[in-house]
Parts: sequence; structure tokens; C-alpha cells
Amino acid sequence: MIYKYVYGQPVTTGAVIKEIKESTEAIALMEFSEKEETLTFSCEMKEQDVVYGLGEQVRGINKRGFSYISYAADDPIHTENKHSLYGAHNFLVLYRAEEKTAFGIFVDDPGKVVFDVGETKRNRLVIHTGKDCVVYAIEGESLKAIVKEFRGLIGRSYIPPKWAFGYQQSRWSYGSEAEVRSVAEHHRRLGIPLDAIYLDIDYMESYKDFTIDTERFPDFRGLVKDMKEQGIHLVPIIDAGVKIEPDYPVYEEGVRENYFCKDENGEDFVAAVWPGKVHFPDVLNREAREWFGEKYKVLMEQGIDGFWNDMNEPAIFYSEKNLKKVLEEIASIQDDNMDLNAFFHMQGIVEGLCNNPVDYKSFFHNMDGVKLCHDRVHNLYGFYMTRAAAEAFEKIEPDKRILLFSRSSYIGMHRYGGIWTGDNEAWWGHLLLSIQQMPALNMCGILYTGSDIGGFGSDTTEDLLLRWLEFAIFTPLMRNHAAAGTRMQEVYRFENTESFRNIIRIRYGLLPYLYSEYMKAALSDEMYFRPVSFDYPKDDHAFLVEDQLMVGESIMIAPVYTQNASGRYVYLPEEMLMVRMKSLEERDSRVLEKGHHYVEIALDEVVFFVKKNHVLPLAILDEEVKSTADVKEDQYEWVGFADENAGYVWYDDDGISKDYVAKEMWKQRGVNQ
Ligand code: GLC
Repeated sequence: MIYKYVYGQPVTTGAVIKEIKESTEAIALMEFSEKEETLTFSCEMKEQDVVYGLGEQVRGINKRGFSYISYAADDPIHTENKHSLYGAHNFLVLYRAEEKTAFGIFVDDPGKVVFDVGETKRNRLVIHTGKDCVVYAIEGESLKAIVKEFRGLIGRSYIPPKWAFGYQQSRWSYGSEAEVRSVAEHHRRLGIPLDAIYLDIDYMESYKDFTIDTERFPDFRGLVKDMKEQGIHLVPIIDAGVKIEPDYPVYEEGVRENYFCKDENGEDFVAAVWPGKVHFPDVLNREAREWFGEKYKVLMEQGIDGFWNDMNEPAIFYSEKNLKKVLEEIASIQDDNMDLNAFFHMQGIVEGLCNNPVDYKSFFHNMDGVKLCHDRVHNLYGFYMTRAAAEAFEKIEPDKRILLFSRSSYIGMHRYGGIWTGDNEAWWGHLLLSIQQMPALNMCGILYTGSDIGGFGSDTTEDLLLRWLEFAIFTPLMRNHAAAGTRMQEVYRFENTESFRNIIRIRYGLLPYLYSEYMKAALSDEMYFRPVSFDYPKDDHAFLVEDQLMVGESIMIAPVYTQNASGRYVYLPEEMLMVRMKSLEERDSRVLEKGHHYVEIALDEVVFFVKKNHVLPLAILDEEVKSTADVKEDQYEWVGFADENAGYVWYDDDGISKDYVAKEMWKQRGVNQ
């Protein structure tokens, strides 16, 4: 049951697709108060109650004990003390442990929203929103039912092409055709399957969107074609800022047609990102959105069928106005013997250049006739940039799935594309964070997601990369990505290539199951990744599990995320089959009883657990498997255990067309013991 409450004059964000009648009575589940520009909703939490959700955020699966701020931030250092990451996902579920009941809250407010989940007062959940917003309260008989109800409200999750479930290699700095070919060649020579190579900003001419540096990529179309023949898709990045440069058509057209965001004087707002000074396309405006979306065609005509949208919080290195102010202030400093106050003051001035809140208050959108200050709709920018692309793809290639994901997002964007979790670090803690973010993202409909495997910033290590891959073979987006200047981290750079190859091949072996589970989750508004408690609500201990996840209908994973660990403790909420794999071919399994176990997991092993009376299909791969296209649908075996007949609903399709429902792709396959 969903209740809708409207406050003030909210912006229509596009998060919700279902009409719900407005409720007139107060939200029974929370207390309400109003003060100037802020509305506050709050309620008591008992000690054992658990809060799930909030999508891409720091800290654990249970969000209690900290405050989270929805205000999309370009902040690569995701330490625990941070309150905002790249996305804004205002949906949470409070589970009442004693009563065994739960309710969900979705705050549809594209400005700043604060969720104080027991930070100020341990036993109080407090939500502060702007004065114009819509709040949805959702009741249901279980955690799963509440999420499903919410997902029905916000619409079906994005469905990528099947090749996007293959292994993908990326790096900021691949700067020439030769480098791209070399990455492909290394994977192919060593028999490591690979479905995509990413093109970061270095493929462009002077970081200008929708251009290609023809000196370094003299035959782009030919390169795309050659790669595709090898089963590898090239996926270029598109940034939010459009370089200010006379004669650059995207800039010229945007200025001429008034498609850019404006400053307080009605001039095109000037910020700076990679290319230097840029304007931001006003993607909240329908015409500007259509115009920007059509630009992707330039690359699609060269054979491109996947994109990643970046810097769309939007990230601002500096604004023209703020830079002027800062330079003046710095120039006025005459002190060459600064004490701590003077020094920190100077440091603060410089640090304030980047992503300054004042800048976000100083530009405006024309949202189809309504002038809106950016600050009020800040969290929509990444969503609408991605929507621009997805709507254009519908026109350009109506029958084909195009890979699309974004860095910044808001609920609603999940219908148009996926996300990656942004600039993490090569830290063990970020491997754990990535595990914990997955179910929270799935709750918000963001199913196509994953983190930068191995860590984006800092130098990775062989053991971290192995452990990260052992988790990431379960994430729909499985992409190794790193920052320029860090240690090279393609898997062939390490000594232990055979282990990397084996682990990546296990992903391809699991593909029939993972793809089937993704599609079932997307088509039925369900979660692909779930906290253990969602499947075992009667088990009190399941609510305490912070580092294990249910993946699809049949399995549970318990990844290793600590350095030098030879295994880990795993909690089994029921008797399960433990499957241990060194490679697809070299594996064993045994049944473990319900309870706590210490499980040895060597550095080069994948371990997962199959639920009782459940099975999963595992593809039998030829030695030569290069990409998802080589995984044969009729070569598989069943893995699982049952004391009665076990069945599996197996979804499969051609992986590229959009005829998901019309064809008979849901097959109930019985497996007899
Ligand atoms: C941003 C992105 C990162 C990319 C870099 C250069 O930091 O998050 O993935 O590599 O920009 O484009």
C-alpha cells in the first residue's frame, strides 16, 4: 500500500511513473514538523530496528548510526566521514525488529535532503527535506514486498545488452588506437575473455564531447569494426560540460539555440572541467535534452553501441566568477610568514574553487518554461543527461539495446541506464563498501551496476585485484577501471595470469544464471542483490549480516575483503551447498549445515553457496571462449542440491532486441535429483 503526501509546490522529477491519489491525513508512521524552508519527518527506532536503503552511500547495509546527505557530489575520496557520494537515492525501509513489520519512505525532492539515521540521537530517525516535495510512505507484508511495491511506483529497470555482462577493461589514459589494440591482443593471446574496452576522455579532441582525435585514432570506424569482429565493444565516455570554443558545432549550436544553463544575468553559465571553460547543456529542458541526445548519433554511426556519462553531478573545477574572486584574494595575501590561521584560510580559499555550493546556486534551468535555480534540482542533472541519451537511442536504434550508465543519478534514472559507483580507491575497505552498496542500489531499481574493480585511485595490488574480481564476477557491470598515473591494472600485468583467467572464465560460466536472474529481477521489479535478511526474515541473526549477499533466486555469496585472509566466517541461515572453484573445471562442493562456519578461501578461489532445493545452470565453456557471444545456450550443467525436486525458471533471449515479454523466454525447467 502506497500513500502519497504533497508539500508546497514540488518539481515534477520524473522519478515516479504511477499515478497515486494524494493522501490527506498525516503520515501515520512518522512525526512531522515545519520550519521556514525545511520539513522534518521523524520517528523512534528501537535498538534492534534496522534501516535499509539510500542507494549509493557510505557505510554498511544497515544505515543506522550516521547521517547521509542526498546532494550529488564529485568527491573521489569516499572515506567513512563523507555524507554524500555521486548519486541521490532517497528511499529507505525501516524494519521494526520486535513487531517484525516494516515500512518504506521515498522522499521525492531533487534538492538537498538529510537522513539522520540515529547520528544525532541514536534512537531517532530524522529526515529533513526542502519545503516543496512529495513523500511516499509504503507498507507491505515483507521487506521484499515493500521494495517491489516501490519499484512498481518508479518503473522498470534499465535492460542492457547481454554483452554488457561480460568482462570489461577500462583505464583513464588509453590514448591511441595502438593502445586499445594492445589491450585486446593481450586478453585474446592469454585466453582471457573480454567483451568491452572503454575509451576515457583521451579519445576526444581537446576533451570535446562527440569529437574523436583523428591523429591518435586515424581510423576510428575501422577500429570499432575490428574490435567487434573480435567480440569486443568500444565504450566511449561522454562528459557533461561542452567546451567553449568558436567553430565547435556543439558549442555554437547550444549558444545559438539557448540550450545551455544560464547565470543570474541570463548569460550562458561558465564553469570549467577537463577542456577548460565549458557550458552545461540544460538537460532539464526538453528541447535541449533532445538536441544533446541526438549528438550521440555521431559515435553510433561509427559503430559504437555503448556509452558512459560522466562528471554529471555536474562536477565543476571552478566557475569563471569564483576563479576571479579566488585569484584576487590570493593575490591580496602579502603575508610570507603565515601562522596556522592564515595558512588554513589560504588553503580553504583554494579548495573552495571546486564544486562550490555557491556555484550550484548561481545557475539556472529552464525546465520547460519554469526557471529553476540549479541548487533546487541539483540531483536531477545526471538523471536527465542519461535520459537525454536513452531517449535519443530509442529514436536512433529503436530495436536495439545500447549500453548506458552514468556516474550521477537520482531515482527514476534507473529506467534509462545503470550507474557505476564512481571514483573509489584501491583499498580493501572500498571492496567491502562496494559489496554493501549493491543491495541498497537494487532497492532503488538500479540493477545494472558495479564498482571500479581493483580500485580507481591509488595503486592496486595483485591480491586486492583477485579478491575484488572474486566478488565482481557477480555484479552485472564487471569493469576493471583505474585512474591515469596509477599502477597499470589490466589482469595480464600481474604474475598470476592463470588465476585471473580462471576467475574471469567462472564469470562466463555463471553467465546463463546471472543474466537470467538480472532479467527476472528487472522484469518483475525485484532485487538481484538482497541483504540476507530479505530472504530469511524469520532468522534474527540474518539481520546482523553485513558482508554476505543473496544473488538471484539460488545463491548466497560471502566475499573475502580483507588483506592476507585465508578465509572468513560465513553465516548460513539454512543448510546450503558450498561450491568451491579454482576454475570452471576444477571444483568441489559439500553441504554445510545452518550456522556459523569458518570457510577457507584461497586467494585464487571462488566460493559461493546454493540454497537448498535450488539449482543454477553453469555453462560448459570451450577453451577458446572469448566473449559472451561464445557462451553456448545448450552446453550447461546444473549445480545445486535438493532433497526433493528442484526447479529453475530460466530466462534467456537474444540479448540485443527489446522483445522481452512477447517471446516465450521464461522457461520453467525441472531438475530431478
Ligand atoms: C572521472 C571519472 C573516472 C574517469 C575520469 C577521467 O574521475 O569518474 O571514471 O576515468 O573522470 O575521465
